[in-house]
Amino acid sequence: MRNSIRMKLFMGITCFALMIVSLFWIFNTKYLERYYMEQKKESLIKYSEKIKSMYDNNMEDIENELARIENILGGNITILKVDGEYLYISSFGYGRGGRKGQNIPLTREGIERVLSGEGILETFYHPKFHVKLLVYAAPLTKDSILVLQTSIGAIEESVEIAKNFYIYIGIISCIIGTIIAFWYANRFTKPIIKLNHVAKSMANLDFSKKYEVHSNDEIGQLGETMNDLSNKLDCAITQLNEANRKLKEDIEKERKIDLLRKEFISSVSHELKTPIALIQGYAEGLMDDVAGDEESKSFYCEVIMDEAEKMGKLVKDLLELSKMESGNVSFEMKVFDIITLVEKVYAKYKPIFKEKSIDVYIDKEDKEIKVKGDPLKIEQVLVNFINNGIHHIGGERKIYISIRNEDEKVRLGIKNTGEPIPEEEIHRIWDSFYKIDKSRAREYGGTGLGLSIVKGILKFHGSSFGVLNQEDGVEFWFELRKGE
Ligand SMILES: Nc1ncnc2c1ncn2[C@@H]1O[C@H](COP(=O)(O)OP(=O)(O)OP(=O)(O)O)[C@@H](O)[C@H]1O
Ligand SMILES: [Mg+2]
Repeated sequence: MRNSIRMKLFMGITCFALMIVSLFWIFNTKYLERYYMEQKKESLIKYSEKIKSMYDNNMEDIENELARIENILGGNITILKVDGEYLYISSFGYGRGGRKGQNIPLTREGIERVLSGEGILETFYHPKFHVKLLVYAAPLTKDSILVLQTSIGAIEESVEIAKNFYIYIGIISCIIGTIIAFWYANRFTKPIIKLNHVAKSMANLDFSKKYEVHSNDEIGQLGETMNDLSNKLDCAITQLNEANRKLKEDIEKERKIDLLRKEFISSVSHELKTPIALIQGYAEGLMDDVAGDEESKSFYCEVIMDEAEKMGKLVKDLLELSKMESGNVSFEMKVFDIITLVEKVYAKYKPIFKEKSIDVYIDKEDKEIKVKGDPLKIEQVLVNFINNGIHHIGGERKIYISIRNEDEKVRLGIKNTGEPIPEEEIHRIWDSFYKIDKSRAREYGGTGLGLSIVKGILKFHGSSFGVLNQEDGVEFWFELRKGE
């Protein structure tokens, strides 16, 4: 606190005020009396000069003027001849009633000097009236002397009064000065303290605090600059944070992609391992003529063809998926009737349903519903869901295809009876190569890519989709936007 600007300013102003008051007091006590005296002397000399200029040996002409001067001076005037005859005696004051020569308050030496033509100034203590007098005597004419005298007791008294008065004034000035100094120091340092608060917040990277600019002086300008700096820093740090976050995100993404790539390669090689081993084994068998009869030979060939087909499907699916992920696949968006499409797919699958003794129900309310999308890709979605339904059918061996006409969308559901998908795995079935029952998938030649492809297609269409475990089976659903 002792080092604060407020304190320094307060002390400075207070000291300055004290110094002024002290100087004032010193000058007052030391020099005021002297100054008064000088003034008095000057006026005595001035009036004596005036009287000299007025006087032309006729006393009556100037008597009124002399009385007037006496009043102004607060003293009296005596004019006497060298031989002691009084030409003029003041009508009041110290000169009246005196005996010849006695009322002239001058020393003998003084009188002689005057007589020699010199103007003299003396102080004189009047023994009768007990007052101090200031006397100025000068030759008026060749044979007359002018004496002006004034009491200086009044001066000493006034100076004494003034001194006392200045003590009070000094004390009051000091008190008021201190209050003003305190107020001013406070007023001056308040904005600096506020600026410091803002700067401290900025140092802690909190840019929400701003300096309220109330003045246009240097501090106001500094405040504005600080606010500007705060805004710019805030902006720069936000940008930096954003860039940093993005960088972290990118690194994380990159890491995930790398992981996925590794997983993908291992999954692909894993998928290919079995068919290649089978093909190799059976081909070697054929080569070594292990299969004796024709029937076994054709079985060997069938296995080889079957496995080759699986590999072919895998490669085809992989290609499609990679195309979709790289955005290299072109969708031909059209408005088409979804009911016709569902019926077409159903017609294609009818023999398979029959062969596998599956009952299929199509639940639709309308004859025609126009939707927007790529009909070929939507067919692929339907085929994938139906194929999955066929492969995982159980229970009553039923498949329900529902087409619900909702406000702006059409909801399609493909449900098969059978075992539900374990809840903890349900969210993973859309991932590439994810299969819940691997041996069962292998039986029907599943690679685990079907739902990933479906996901890609539906995402492109901006559709919602999902899977629901129901009491007696599993329902896959997706939505399509209606078209005009
Ligand atoms: N209707 C369903 N009922 C139960 N499980 C299902 C059903 N549909 C899919 N699944 C599970 O989801 C996994 C992933 O399905 P997806 O269609 O992606 O692969 P897939 O059918 O095994 O192979 P692909 O479709 O590539 O031939 C399946 O292996 C299966 O475990
Ligand atoms: Mg499938």
